[in-house]
Amino acid sequence: MTTMPFTQTPHPSPATPDRLAEVLANPGFGRYFTDHMVTIAWTAEQGWHDAEVGPYRSFELDPATSVLHYAQAIFEGLKAYRQADGSIVAFRPEVNAARLRASARRIAMPELPDEVFIDSLRELIAIDERWVPAAGGEESLYLRPFMIASGIGLGVNSPSDRYTYALIASPAGPYFPSGVKPVTVWLSTEYVRAAPGGTGAAKFAGNYAAAFVAQQQAVEKGCDQVVWLDAVERRWIEEMGGMNLFFVFGSGANVRVVTPELSGALLPGVTRDSLLRLASDLGYTVEERRISTEEWEKKAESGELTEVFACGTAAVITPVGRVKHADGEFSVSGGATGEVTMRLRETLTGIQRGTVPDSHGWLTKL
Ligand code: COI
Repeated sequence: MTTMPFTQTPHPSPATPDRLAEVLANPGFGRYFTDHMVTIAWTAEQGWHDAEVGPYRSFELDPATSVLHYAQAIFEGLKAYRQADGSIVAFRPEVNAARLRASARRIAMPELPDEVFIDSLRELIAIDERWVPAAGGEESLYLRPFMIASGIGLGVNSPSDRYTYALIASPAGPYFPSGVKPVTVWLSTEYVRAAPGGTGAAKFAGNYAAAFVAQQQAVEKGCDQVVWLDAVERRWIEEMGGMNLFFVFGSGANVRVVTPELSGALLPGVTRDSLLRLASDLGYTVEERRISTEEWEKKAESGELTEVFACGTAAVITPVGRVKHADGEFSVSGGATGEVTMRLRETLTGIQRGTVPDSHGWLTKL
């Protein structure tokens, strides 16, 4: 039973089996898209209406469409995994649905009901099921729900009067071409990602646009990724690129897994939340608190800080091996990938792929 009727229009010339096999053999990340997409329109008069699963196609936009000028756009990211029995599951899609609504509130957009969000995933998977990579590997189908202001007009006294929700999907291999290999990061003191009262906790498209220049600077400094500090003191660690960060202290029976607390400027990551619970299940002490750049450097040098990693849906878990900043550089654990990092990664990906029991009920059949 769907919450609203979705009209279905199959693609007139879907990818051939040969083309599909070629894409699935080396999907990369975000480069290829499935045959279909979902769109749902919103207007003040009609609310959400015209839910459709149709061919993947270009949007036709009037040059004065609001999103093109004022960036009123939000998105989500989650993955569909094929299980050994051939079925397909999504990982905690209800959390993405709730976060899309939270992002919508912050950017003055209408909220898509959670049931319609989940139905949109089911509708797309039903028609593009053959694009979900085989079970047993690292691959998955990345689902990209998003919402844009599709009203026309340049006034900024009120938000757009119409919106489009859309869902596209893209087969995904490893996010970083080098795979699970420790990255070197640049501590950004010039640029900030988010300020108190700003949009940092929303999955707002503009947050990512504003990040490119800092990422370019990180690359110029010989690093792979930028690490964001708080906007006020430029001292407290927030995120790495588009991912949350974790710090592992101690070893053996005294492992503490620490992540920056959600200050309002950080994105509340689904992977972040899941790892906090899994770390606790694995018997580690878990803390959400502020971590300063001084603590990072001092405790990395004393050996008390044993591992650092970043996490997100796209890249899952990426170890951080080396840190550069305006006054120098240091490494964490000699730049190697740590044991706790790998244990958490294997547990999480095992749940997603059905090889580790889903004791929290995180998988939803699509
Ligand atoms: C994720 O880690 O899933 C992200 O949000 C990155 C994405 C913007 C490509």
